[in-house]
Parts: sequence; C-alpha cells; structure tokens
Amino acid sequence: MNNRGFLAVCLFFFLPVAHAQEKPEPPRTANGLSLTPPMGWNSWNKFACNISEDKVRQAADQMVSSGLKTAGYEYIVIDDCWQGERDADGQTTADKSKFPTGIKALADYVHARGLKFGIYSDAGTKTCGGRPGSRGHEYQDALQYAAWGVDYLKYDWCNVGTQDAKSSYLTMSDALRATGRPIVFSMCEWGTAKPWLWASNVGNLWRTTGDIWDHWQGHKTYSLGMMDIVDLQVGLSSFSGPGHWNDPDMLEVGNGGMTTEEYRSHFSLWAELAAPLMAGNDLSAMSPETKEILTNAEVIAVDQDALGKQGDRVKKDGDLEVWSRPLKDGGRAVVLLNRSETSRKVAVSWEDLGYPHSLKLHVRDLWQHKDLPPSAGEFETPVASHGVVMLRLGF
Ligand code: GLA
Repeated sequence: MNNRGFLAVCLFFFLPVAHAQEKPEPPRTANGLSLTPPMGWNSWNKFACNISEDKVRQAADQMVSSGLKTAGYEYIVIDDCWQGERDADGQTTADKSKFPTGIKALADYVHARGLKFGIYSDAGTKTCGGRPGSRGHEYQDALQYAAWGVDYLKYDWCNVGTQDAKSSYLTMSDALRATGRPIVFSMCEWGTAKPWLWASNVGNLWRTTGDIWDHWQGHKTYSLGMMDIVDLQVGLSSFSGPGHWNDPDMLEVGNGGMTTEEYRSHFSLWAELAAPLMAGNDLSAMSPETKEILTNAEVIAVDQDALGKQGDRVKKDGDLEVWSRPLKDGGRAVVLLNRSETSRKVAVSWEDLGYPHSLKLHVRDLWQHKDLPPSAGEFETPVASHGVVMLRLGF
C-alpha cells in the first residue's frame, strides 16, 4: 500500500471513532435515593467533638424506644471527630479512644435496630475539627465506608484551599457510586458555590447556609439564628425536589437555646421547606414537649409529602408572614408566622395560595390536631409571639 492508500485506510477506520469520542456525555443520572427528605439523628448539634461509640449506641436505642423510629426517623449519623490518623496504607481509621470496637461493629449495632448508619468526612485535607479529610483518598474512603456498611455520608468543606466545589463533590459522588452500595450523599458546602444550581444529580441534599445557631435570630461567628436561616431559603424552592433537597441545616429542637413555641416554629418551617429532618438533641434526655414536636405525625407528613415541592413565603407584612407549600393531594400546607414580640392576628387569603376566592376549603390545624370549620376566601387567626399556626388546607 502506498502512503495515500495507508492514509485513506486510517481515515476510514479512525475518523468514526474520533467522531464518536466528541459526542457529549449523557446527562448524569440521580442515584435514586432520598425521594423524600432524609430523616434521622446527627451527633453534632448536641455533642460536637465530644462523641463516642457509647453515645451513638444510646442514640440508636433511644431512636427506637422514644418512638422516633416509628415516626419516620431512620439515619443515625456520626458527625466530625470520629477519625483517627490514617494507617500506613492511607486507610481511614476510627479514633480508638472514642470508638474502641470500631466503625463496622457500630454500623452493625445500628442496622440490627432496623436503622441506617451515616458517617462524616470532608472534601479538604482536614475536617473542620482537624481530623484527616478525604482529599486524595476519595475512592479509598468510599470503599472503606461501603465495607463498614455506611448508608449516608455527610461531606464537609473545611481546609479546601483553592479546590473547586463542583469537581470536589463530583469526585466523592462518583466514588460512592463506584462502591455499588446505596449511600445518601449529604453535601455540606454552606451554599458558597450555590450547589442548588449544579448539584441535583451530584448529592441528595446540600446545605444552603452556614451553621445553625440554637437561637431564634442573630449571628455568631460562622453560625446563624434559625430565622436568619429561614430568610436565606427564600427563592430556592424551585431547585429542590425528590432526591435533591435544599438543606437549611440540622434541627436544634430540644437543645435549650429556644423556647418551646420557637422550636415548634422551627420544626414547622423545616417541614414547610421540605428540609431534611435530622434531630440534633440528646435523645436520652428528651422532654415531653421536645418529643411531641419531633414526632408530630401531621407535620412530618407535610415534610415527607410525595410531591416533594418546597414551600415558599407568599406574603410578608412586617413581622407577619404566610408560607405555602403545594401538596400531592392538591391541597396546601400553610404556615402563619408571627416574628413579633406580641401575639398578633395573621391572615391568609386564597389568592395568596393560588386558589380562587370563592373556593370552600377544609381547614385542619396540625398542632391542635383538629379540624376547623371550612372556610371560603380567607382564614385569620391569632398567632403567639415567635409562634406559628400550621394548617393543611384542602378539599
Ligand atoms: C461544619 C459543618 C457542621 C459540622 C462541623 C463539624 O461547621 O457545617 O454541620 O459538621 O463542621 O466540624
């Protein structure tokens, strides 16, 4: 064959291959997990770094005996500070002083109670608590988590230098998928790189803000009061849905920094926002009020509504607000919120909810667990200071 002939043969065989390689990659598919917002318990808000395998075992036991499991809570997640140093092969290890019997035994213990088990790492070189991060060890760590029986990974964003958020979270997302084990991926990047714009097929939930502070309102270093977090959720509802949720951070209900009324508002607003419900209190020392809030089946049903549509603030009149969330049955979950220092009347009109004025709606109060007389056009009721009235309106 002369040179020309050789070139023709090359073009004939290799051009189609080269052309095929230029095809755009198929869109990334979701991992199919968390079709409703995940529910569980996480160690951080109460115990921070003061964590141990005994406390995690107790939390699993209490999740069952307190009725939280029956109410829908499923994941027991250890947050930061469980890690020891990496071993000679670069494998992640548990801090032996806190977890003497190891993570596998702990995961087995949690699974034996019909619950799922979660763990924490960080996209950078170290976690926020200064333990080894997963940077450069993503596939190795994912395989180790899968071998331990991990069902949920919270992945933080400290000590990342100039790392790019999207590619860092994609790497761990891919690594988790490569294990073949279904692992919910909880991205904790605090909303800095606006993950709601790019992460719907990367993670199952993503933090939208800095850390929650167990206070009604205000700021503390990197933390925000509960109402400040709520304000930052406005405008994000269209980015959340089944399998990919906005995460306004874990619950503080029962941790002591807010009143019972304020915790009721916190829990109602999280349900309205289709937020993950990760309890963050000491389950072994729960007051009856805390338990009543965390297990309110009617509010949880709103959070877990199968339509998976996050609620929005539809009216703001100074300290008085109306939030509305469309539900699968065509109804609405409505939160009437009073942020002021005195009891006030709050009104919702059907137009605020996208209904015709003349429609007669069935009204149910989700904290009183009571049907109210059907209403047409609007509904008005007194709401306690820093409180909510949460309603289900329907047909
Ligand atoms: C960050 C996260 C918190 C918690 C701590 C652990 O601040 O946002 O939720 O995980 O790190 O160090």
